[in-house]
Amino acid sequence: MNTGSYVNGKWFHPKSNRLVRNLNPADPDDVIGEFPAATAEDVQQAIDHAQAAARGWRKTPGPERGRVLWRAADIARRRADEIARTLSREEGKVLKEAKGEVMKGISLLEYYAGEGFRMHGKTLPSEARDTFTYTLRRALGVVGLIAPWNFPWAIPVWKSAPALAAGNCVIFKPAELTPATASLLAEIYAEAGLPPGVFNMLVGSGSVVGEAMVHSPVLRAISFTGSNEVGGALYAKAAQRGAKVTCEMGGKNAVIVMADADLDKAAVAIHGGAFGSTGQRCTATSRVIASPSIKEPLLERLVEAAKRIKMGPGLDETVDMGPAVDEKQWKTDLDYIGIGRREGARLVLGGNKPDHLGKGYFVEPTIFDNVAPTMRIFKEEIFGPVLAITTAHNLDEALSFANGVEYGLTTSIFTESIDTIMNFVEEVETGMVHVNEPTIGGEAQLPFGGTKATGVGEREMAEEGLNFFTELKTVFINYSGKAERLMIR
Ligand code: UN1
Repeated sequence: MNTGSYVNGKWFHPKSNRLVRNLNPADPDDVIGEFPAATAEDVQQAIDHAQAAARGWRKTPGPERGRVLWRAADIARRRADEIARTLSREEGKVLKEAKGEVMKGISLLEYYAGEGFRMHGKTLPSEARDTFTYTLRRALGVVGLIAPWNFPWAIPVWKSAPALAAGNCVIFKPAELTPATASLLAEIYAEAGLPPGVFNMLVGSGSVVGEAMVHSPVLRAISFTGSNEVGGALYAKAAQRGAKVTCEMGGKNAVIVMADADLDKAAVAIHGGAFGSTGQRCTATSRVIASPSIKEPLLERLVEAAKRIKMGPGLDETVDMGPAVDEKQWKTDLDYIGIGRREGARLVLGGNKPDHLGKGYFVEPTIFDNVAPTMRIFKEEIFGPVLAITTAHNLDEALSFANGVEYGLTTSIFTESIDTIMNFVEEVETGMVHVNEPTIGGEAQLPFGGTKATGVGEREMAEEGLNFFTELKTVFINYSGKAERLMIR
């Protein structure tokens, strides 16, 4: 496997003293890779190469660019098992989830391969006679992509595929915790025929690599997924120099369960949303707002299912839930469990590190009942397998609890009532809304993103993803042969 950074079609180990250590979170003694981190000079070099490649790539016909992505999808399908295993080993999620993530990335490559054939603008009538007015979409030039560790394959694909389809060159910073999956993406793009300099990857810290990217005047757009702390600062800095920015950040997603809900279905969806990917998903279900009349039977189902979860290394196919991604996230999870206890919520299940799993960063699936909407575990993003349950007497109260947090990514409701569904869809303040299904997931052709503190800038994926990486030219062609112009424009 290639390690290090990838610039202008070549792999290299930067000359720096700081090492990136890639560890398996299920067994931190399993060192997957160790190599020097990229420096600000490496970023600058990558940007220079990308700039040199930009015109050639922009002028490559859209369908030709699309075909590169199509070939990348084929290669990824052939290498799916290798990608999933690499991802599982370095991020910790179970193989089944890793395989699902690989498939999602492939759908995104296919979707944007098609966009290469479209790249459509609009023709519109002009106020003036004999004047042809239309819009053209144009690549921005060189763009910066900063990705998190929790979807180390799908998120880099959903940022890079639209950027490349649109004709941009890319400077990509993967999360330092997951450079191996990222390196497979770079390999696959190269094998698919992407010219040198078009896709460049720098592995290093946010404070060095990310910072250099955010401040470079060459990068006309920055697409970021990660924490609010980093995203907020990045947004301010990039906006200052007039760059386009999209940030997808935290979530605190609720499932509302009404008295008429199918409780078996609701329990399955909440279970998957809360404990799938070890809760390390910005779309994870971390809150349940239940009608008091069905709270107990719902809780019973949730506890029964969570008790059956088998924890262990993601690569073991009998395992249901992997570890937290690293020591820091593991401590955060355990800290929040302590906070929940001190706040007076009732710990119904879990709450500890299991003792039979050695040094891995495991946390038991944890359920708190009697959580007050004012408690921190009800309002703050934990990013671990911790579920907080409260009750609400009617839809209005449920919505006030669901909406009463700073985030706005996704919400789900379980009910059989069409009136309740329609009112919920109307009033809920999240960018993604689900009815009778889990809070998690997204699809290549559907815009993805949130409101309030969750996100700024354009939605990702779908046509919106392509919009972000292009700018419009509005063109006026006067074929009247006359000198005088219409002055009302
Ligand atoms: C999903 O639920 O499949 O970081 C998508 C995240 C999100 C992606 C979640 N940006 O968890």
